[in-house]
Amino acid sequence: MPAAVDPDTATLTSLLSALPSGSHGVDATDRLLAWLGQHPEEYVVVLGPYLDLDDAVGLCEGLRTTRPTISVVLVRHTLDTQVLTRAMKAGARDVVAHGDIEAIGAAVSRAHQLYVALRGPTGGAHTGRVVTVFSPKGGVGKTTMAVNLALALTQRGVRKVCLVDLDLAFGDVSITLQLFPSHSIEHAIGSEDTLDHPMLEGLLTRHQDSLMVLAAPSHPDVRDRVSPALILRVLRTLKETFDFVVVDTAPAFDEQTLTALDETDECVVVATLDVPTLKNVKVALETLELLNIARGHRHLLLNRADDAVGIGADKVESILGMGLATQVATSIDIAAATNAGTPIVVGNPDHPSSIAIRGLATLLAGEPVAPAGEPGEAPGQAEPGRAPRRFRIRR
Ligand SMILES: Nc1ncnc2c1ncn2[C@@H]1O[C@H](COP(=O)(O)OP(=O)(O)OP(=O)(O)O)[C@@H](O)[C@H]1O
Ligand SMILES: [Mg+2]
Repeated sequence: MPAAVDPDTATLTSLLSALPSGSHGVDATDRLLAWLGQHPEEYVVVLGPYLDLDDAVGLCEGLRTTRPTISVVLVRHTLDTQVLTRAMKAGARDVVAHGDIEAIGAAVSRAHQLYVALRGPTGGAHTGRVVTVFSPKGGVGKTTMAVNLALALTQRGVRKVCLVDLDLAFGDVSITLQLFPSHSIEHAIGSEDTLDHPMLEGLLTRHQDSLMVLAAPSHPDVRDRVSPALILRVLRTLKETFDFVVVDTAPAFDEQTLTALDETDECVVVATLDVPTLKNVKVALETLELLNIARGHRHLLLNRADDAVGIGADKVESILGMGLATQVATSIDIAAATNAGTPIVVGNPDHPSSIAIRGLATLLAGEPVAPAGEPGEAPGQAEPGRAPRRFRIRR
């Protein structure tokens, strides 16, 4: 995300409005440096017109050697020879006039192109992982789990996570997070060949400090215009900058969902304890196997795992021929947290469901998980009278 610095609050606000949404603003250079220290992926900083020229030039000179992949865009009230000469000598990539929003946007875009060129099209060493939450059945808790997993994966802002709502007709990620996005994937239609990071950033909506969201279109009829090629481009572009791209899906194997599944590194399949769902989940798992999607990286999540409907978790495993990665019980707290706009992993981190979801997030992140049977962070929610269980996929 671009970062801007200016001691004047109103100027900083107007600079940020010219930058992709999610850009970061600070009022002083030391804060900028502290922020850059935590963001090794940063590619551009915009130095506002009220920043003292000596400070701006000093910062520029420092970054030139310490962070050569960062472009500096210097914004000034007047562009005279003295300013241009000093900026050039210090290594600024662009000097633009204050108020010229178009020029600032173009400079940021050029900075990103340069960054990609320097690091390679996949972002060099950085390739985020795509986690897709899927089920062939509606209403089983895909969105609830996708939202909570995405939040758990951020680890309170330590990791960069983007949640993509690919339930293109009836997506409800935004409403679940009480977001009112001004942009959605709809605004990328037609950009299959040109979509780049700055453009995509402008379509994201920030949820609190930690999570970015790419919203679904607001009208169902837009779905058919979102092509598989666009979805591919969106996911690949997001992977360049985010550590995790979590995808919520529609309950169908349509071409958009299949495209996302094809790009998936970790696939979370959600099941519940009713026979029609289990039958469809079995067919879905067979289809994933047939298509060689996320082989060895499929994780079965049993939601509403304690419903007393005559089928238990063990039966589910034998029906589906696969171990459970985790279980989440039916809880009014989950629905209440969603209705309050504060998903349970954030609103009630000690809740057994939050612990189970965090455990799954840990597993997906490839980090060591507490041994089975240990209370706390192990995936697998405790059923009444039983110790928490952790299951691994049988391959
Ligand atoms: N473990 C749970 N306990 C209680 N309520 C739950 C649980 N999981 C999900 N819910 C509730 O069930 C409803 C459906 O969940 P959700 O929207 O996440 O399902 P979905 O699979 O995304 O549905 P759709 O296919 O329509 O998109 C929501 O009201 C949600 O709050
Ligand atoms: Mg949903």
